[in-house]
Amino acid sequence: MARVFVTRQIAPEAVEMLRAKLDVKVWDEDRAIPRDVLVREVAGVDGLLSLLTERVDDELLEAAGRGLRVVANMAVGFDNFDVPALTRRGIVGTNTPGVLTETTADFAFALMMAASRYVVQGVEYARAGKWQTWEPNLFIGQDIHHTTVGIVGFGRIGIEFAKRARGFDMRVLYHDVYRRDAEFERQHGIEYRELDDLLAESDHVTVHVDLNPDTRKLFNAERFRKMKRSAYLINAARGPIVDTEALYQALKNGEIAGAALDVTDPEPLPADHPLLQLENCVVCPHIASASIRTRTDMAKLAAENIVNVLEGNMPLTPVNPEVLENK
Ligand code: DGY
Repeated sequence: MARVFVTRQIAPEAVEMLRAKLDVKVWDEDRAIPRDVLVREVAGVDGLLSLLTERVDDELLEAAGRGLRVVANMAVGFDNFDVPALTRRGIVGTNTPGVLTETTADFAFALMMAASRYVVQGVEYARAGKWQTWEPNLFIGQDIHHTTVGIVGFGRIGIEFAKRARGFDMRVLYHDVYRRDAEFERQHGIEYRELDDLLAESDHVTVHVDLNPDTRKLFNAERFRKMKRSAYLINAARGPIVDTEALYQALKNGEIAGAALDVTDPEPLPADHPLLQLENCVVCPHIASASIRTRTDMAKLAAENIVNVLEGNMPLTPVNPEVLENK
């Protein structure tokens, strides 16, 4: 029976799907698997179900040995994969697109609302016993309705964010490497802008690009200076898309009004990180896809990809389909 290693406890339904057909071992401690343990555990496996916390690189693939045929990431992002290394070895890599789109867009929208209306800061204030009377000038934020949102990266999640924004009567600008055609823009009620123009016009800027060499530190000091001083930044994509030090300075010096982050660089953010001390910054622990249904669907899709490959069938969502052409 083919052997599979799962790097963390995931939805039981997904583990059952794997166990029905394969010999499965799950890392069952309540923390990310240490690298040395992972390197040991992958030796001789045929399939690996990984999370975004595991670096799947040449060293790990070498440690797994020649039997490894599939690595299924339980995430849509796969910047933790060295894709060329997988492809060179003829190993299929897969991710989990689609199943988390709306859940992630919901959360990014929630972050936008939380940031602009000081929801978290209000809760902290009340909890700290500081609420003495109704204050005419307390936590005065930015409206959501009838303001302008700039969506940077107009893939699946960006599109879902736009739908939600239109429901709030927002004007929706977008920037992407590819401009959509006029009919698509009309249907979605969106207007294309070059990035700097989008930054200059938006009251809220939400990031939905992949992390790749072109988007690493896309949001740097210069970009923050292009944003309105009253604007908010939302990042539920990947931490390194934003230059953390530049964001800290922009928030501290009032170059932008606030930020809400579900992802950070480094991740996790150490408890004493200066960003966590800023009143105009809300940080969540990378939970945008964390609904019961979505995390279950992500785990099941990853499991299905493994079963398919190990049974000689096509995976549903490969990231290096070129590997399959020769099979
Ligand atoms: C992903 O899927 O890439 C998210 O960051 C975790 O859901």
